[in-house]
Amino acid sequence: MRKDNQSSNMDFILLGVSGQQEQEDFFFILFLFIYPITLIGNLLIILAIHSDIRLHNPMYFLLANLSLVDIFFSSVTLPKMLTNYLLGTKAISFEGCLTQTYLVIALGNTDSYILAAMAYDRAVAISHPLHYTTIMSPRSCILLVVGSWVVGNTSALPHTVLTAKLSFCGNQGVANFYCDMASLLKLSCSDIRFNVNMMYLGVSVFCVPLLCIIISYVQVCFTVLRVPSTKGVLKALSTCGSHLTVVSLYYGSVMGMYLRPLTSYSLKDAVITVMYIAVTPMLNPFIYSLRNQDMKAALGKIFNKGISS
Ligand SMILES: *[C@@H]1O[C@H](CO)[C@@H](O)[C@H](O)[C@H]1NC(C)=O
Repeated sequence: MRKDNQSSNMDFILLGVSGQQEQEDFFFILFLFIYPITLIGNLLIILAIHSDIRLHNPMYFLLANLSLVDIFFSSVTLPKMLTNYLLGTKAISFEGCLTQTYLVIALGNTDSYILAAMAYDRAVAISHPLHYTTIMSPRSCILLVVGSWVVGNTSALPHTVLTAKLSFCGNQGVANFYCDMASLLKLSCSDIRFNVNMMYLGVSVFCVPLLCIIISYVQVCFTVLRVPSTKGVLKALSTCGSHLTVVSLYYGSVMGMYLRPLTSYSLKDAVITVMYIAVTPMLNPFIYSLRNQDMKAALGKIFNKGISS
């Protein structure tokens, strides 16, 4: 890790979501609600799935894995933002900053590959029901999950190493509430052309799972529309619709943020990152389970146990 004299032991300053005090207060309160809801919602999902034998199948195991990633993902940025606000500081160490950059990219990618695995699982279940148990065997399930983690972490590594090599010439003010890679690139006084190209490449890699998701749901739609049962069609469309809502919020905000020239970035764009950093990890458990009867039954059992004991 090359650091020039100026930047050794240098802290970065997280300027926040907008840089204005009233708005920072607002986002503090917002995150103060979002973070515990995210933790509890996702924990309940994992608990419900593991405690109910009827939910021991690929679809729910993948969902539990998604919840696990979401817990880690929101814990990378939100607690730091909350404690900094409470302590009245905006500082983050150089190492802490790079750790955030790495983990956000790694877990964000892992998240999107698990979403793709979930869409693939649904496509197999609906379009090839007879082969479902052989295609989605426990082995291939574990392979999909481990593969998501490996690909996620591998894709974060080059970006983090390249960012760590930059010089910052004493610039400290990161225009976001966490160490977002694009904001760090903008802050650097090194030649960042290669980094920027790598970033666009990274966003393209990030979109590979999106392609899998779209293909899977298109296949689901074709299968469902071929079977003339209005009730089945409505059920499948409403499930796919809610999944696609989360997916488009997630990908829409990431692409809106990164697929444009770096020069057009400003502090007010940090509000776009709130969408995928804080909001989608919170929404996932609700979208994927509250409309689902089996899941509701499992959650009900947990609450009943809690009350009676
Ligand atoms: C993740 O998926 C694997 C494979 O299906 C499963 O064995 C494991 O229990 C899941 N993890 C969680 C936290 O549910």
